[in-house]
Amino acid sequence: MSEDTKKTVNPLWGGRFVAGPSAVMARINPSIGFDRRLWAEDIEGSKAHCAMLVAQGIIPASDGKAILEGLDRVAAEITEGRFTFRDDLEDIHMNIEARLAELIGVAAGRLHTARSRNDQVATDLRLWTRAACERIDAELAGLQAALIDQAERHAGTVMPGFTHLQPAQPVTFGHHLLAYVEMVGRDRGRVADACRRLDECPLGAAALAGTSFPIDRAATARALGFARPCANSMDAVADRDFVVEVLATAALAATHLSRLAEELVLWASPAYGFVTLPEALTSGSSMMPQKRNPDAAELVRGKAGRVSGALIATLTVLKGLALTYGKDMQEDKEPLFDAVETLLLCLAASREMIAGLEARPAAMRAACAAGYLTATDLADWLVRAAGLPFRQAHHAVGRLVRLAEAEGVGLDGLSLSAMQAVEPAITEAARAVLTVEASVASRSSLGGTAPARVAEAARAARARYLGGGA
Ligand code: ARG
Repeated sequence: MSEDTKKTVNPLWGGRFVAGPSAVMARINPSIGFDRRLWAEDIEGSKAHCAMLVAQGIIPASDGKAILEGLDRVAAEITEGRFTFRDDLEDIHMNIEARLAELIGVAAGRLHTARSRNDQVATDLRLWTRAACERIDAELAGLQAALIDQAERHAGTVMPGFTHLQPAQPVTFGHHLLAYVEMVGRDRGRVADACRRLDECPLGAAALAGTSFPIDRAATARALGFARPCANSMDAVADRDFVVEVLATAALAATHLSRLAEELVLWASPAYGFVTLPEALTSGSSMMPQKRNPDAAELVRGKAGRVSGALIATLTVLKGLALTYGKDMQEDKEPLFDAVETLLLCLAASREMIAGLEARPAAMRAACAAGYLTATDLADWLVRAAGLPFRQAHHAVGRLVRLAEAEGVGLDGLSLSAMQAVEPAITEAARAVLTVEASVASRSSLGGTAPARVAEAARAARARYLGGGA
């Protein structure tokens, strides 16, 4: 073997190799380009493992001390940007261990006792994902806070409510925004749920079968803040459910944000004019001087595709993988990292848009004039005041709408005699239910859009999701 070849054989697993990887292997194999972001978790896991090895008498305390100190030095080098990440050392685990050996010498070789990169990477990734869940939850809560603030301000601001994107019934802007608070609340529930299920520690599963060393898995699980060790060593190294669950949660949250973003795009267009988005989150056109485009909203709408893509990519990587670990699983990280970063970015942008948007109540009110929004109210009046069966009332009001359409007026523009010609039970008193204010005020059923209900719901949401207070 020439000196040259020896150098390229991996120092950590190269015992049975005579030559280094081919050029293409050197390109396809490494994950250090992206798994370097697991460095802090890797060191945390190694420290817990090392302390346990010492406590169990598996490695000498003096070596354990040298390892722990060495790991702190590695951490400092990385934090201060003095660490050289090497592609030829493949991944974060071997980069750190190799540097540890440079720093403390042969004692470093004892760290990997009773451990494999398989349980190591599974542990690192769980730690990273757990922290990601906390970041996501905090951003989701921040968005809820912005939505609730606006909802309180606009508990009584009337606007058209839509089904099929056709004017349906009047609602209040605050009520509309609180719908998103509920969606985001469920997202937070899913994050918590995923986090609860990932709360088991793979460390000590070793390569796949466990180890002959007298390790203490409960101790490492505890040290890393997990509820308990994973029960089955093979499952521990093969399982990436926690990645899939967080991606599924992220995909749905991103989908919610894309619906909100689409509404912001519509509401901010001059055809609606319901809101003005903060200038800082919009952009101009290079050709049309008058334009102010809702780019941030459009990007939030679009990026949902990327997050769903990450979910599908990961499910597809795992599909059909025989137990236990397969290198395919190295492909779990980029989609996870990208989806989490993308979701966090979308959440921050959505929060800023909601917090900074200016509602245009006059435009919302004016839009209520189109589309016969109070037709249902008139039908309900006929049921209540004249005792008509709802179907018959519905039919009569349908005819009145047709008449109003032909005359080019709203329902309140029809004369009493014209209305009575269609439905004799109608009296002058019916006019009172035709205003949008009366309409929203009347919808005081639980979860309804009556301004008093909305104000109450905003308070309740604040207490339920944000722990009360201001
Ligand atoms: N870089 C690898 C990954 O991300 C670490 C685990 C490698 N394990 C192994 N037996 N080659 O999955």
